[in-house]
Amino acid sequence: MKLFIKKPIAQLLAASKEGEKTLKRTLGLSSLIALGIGAIIGAGIFVRTAAAAGEHAGPAVTISFIIAASGCALAGLCYSEFASMIPIAGSAYTYSYATMGELIAWIIGWDLVLEYALGAATVAIGWSQYFNEFLNTFFGFHIPFQWCHSPWETNISTTGMYTDQMGVHGLVNLPAILIIFLLTLLLIRGTAESASVNNFIVIVKVAIVLLIIGLGWHFINPANHIPYMIPADAKPVVTSTGTINYSDTFNHGWLGVLRGASVVFFAFIGFDAVSTAAQEAKNPQKDMPKGILISLVFCTVLYILFSHVLTGIAPYRDFLIAGKEASVTYAINTFMHGYGWLAKLVTIAILAGFSSVILVMLLGQTRVFYTMSTDGLIPKVFSQLHPKYSTPYKSQWLFFGFVSIFAGFIPDRIVGDMVSIGTLFAFVLVCLGIFILRRTDPNIVRPFKTPAYMIVCPLGALICLGMIASEGLENWLRLIGWLLIGFVIYFGYSVKRSHVRHGKVDGANDPINPKFVE
Ligand code: ALA
Repeated sequence: MKLFIKKPIAQLLAASKEGEKTLKRTLGLSSLIALGIGAIIGAGIFVRTAAAAGEHAGPAVTISFIIAASGCALAGLCYSEFASMIPIAGSAYTYSYATMGELIAWIIGWDLVLEYALGAATVAIGWSQYFNEFLNTFFGFHIPFQWCHSPWETNISTTGMYTDQMGVHGLVNLPAILIIFLLTLLLIRGTAESASVNNFIVIVKVAIVLLIIGLGWHFINPANHIPYMIPADAKPVVTSTGTINYSDTFNHGWLGVLRGASVVFFAFIGFDAVSTAAQEAKNPQKDMPKGILISLVFCTVLYILFSHVLTGIAPYRDFLIAGKEASVTYAINTFMHGYGWLAKLVTIAILAGFSSVILVMLLGQTRVFYTMSTDGLIPKVFSQLHPKYSTPYKSQWLFFGFVSIFAGFIPDRIVGDMVSIGTLFAFVLVCLGIFILRRTDPNIVRPFKTPAYMIVCPLGALICLGMIASEGLENWLRLIGWLLIGFVIYFGYSVKRSHVRHGKVDGANDPINPKFVE
């Protein structure tokens, strides 16, 4: 049934030549690293870290970061080899189509929806929390609980912003939908994110993290770090989405730390963005793997220090109740007296920083679907371009609807977990794929080779599988459900229309590559 038919590399290269007419090779290593950091630092560190500490890992969330980073680094090495085999801009979907065949490419492309579209939704929910914090701090009012929470949440907080609305159920998260709407409009107008804007946002984000680490260090209360891991007999906590029982297998001790790793894994998502700029890199084969790995190491160090400080300032249980939302500003306002200015600065920086992450994710999503559509695997509507702006506006609107459903009506905990499990699964496939390709196609030119692949590939897959295992039955079922929907579409629609299967040559270049112009 030709399930593993490959897209000819010559075809990909022809397409990329087209792109070279419009894309200039201007990005040096530092810009690539900035690009990586720009996509990495977002809701993961400013929202999900507190949730991981509160629900699963306690102060040992620092160890969770080490586990998640190891999985990412090993998968990142494999990813770099994958990307360097095909020296064009693209995503894991593009690379796997040329190397591992259509079915695997489909699974990865379909899986990337979880990473990009649901990733955008998760960050938008985090944006909504800090937006309300912004309104509260600067204008003294906040959006009522029901209009900025999903229907699955109930206000149980006796402190924080919503004390006047105890027991109220959420209806829809309007600010989250609003930011997605605004960024969709921007993307339709074809506003390419420029490297200088990205560099500026990166500097602001890194500066904020460093400020919190530096200033917060003096407010660490050593008692908050004892015990370091959550004990099984810790008292349960009632939260807005249900009760957290620490006696549950993945809510205490080492297994809690592993589960925490799958949550904070979200904070690393996006480092693969570096490889999508390969066509604009001055020296892609050398700089891409470096860009990916350096941005990963840099963020890991920042994250470990940051989470050490955050769980030292506030007791981890607070992050389930009063400090559940806008947790960083909560910790500063509550425990760092005299630093109200820092909380204000953090709020503004986070709003800008999150917006850039959402933008990159929405862009990445429509770009992957654009390519899949030009390959005939999904309907043409995803590659129809706006007559004036040459952007895939219909796809952008469709994804506005799709992402809004998750951002508006599902709690961030569930959406964030779906992003993590989907991306982890894609990483497992990439690790295994590189291992298999080394054995089946040893002669492909590989400008970057994963060192010690016999160890790196299986270990990378194993660490990512460990995190998937800790996500629990509900999340496995969600992933399986998503993949099943994907198979129905693939076998019902795509196999009949695949251009590669039916010998149609498609040399059109993807005109919506973002231009990172310096
Ligand atoms: N790593 C990105 C974030 O944390 C997705 O927001």
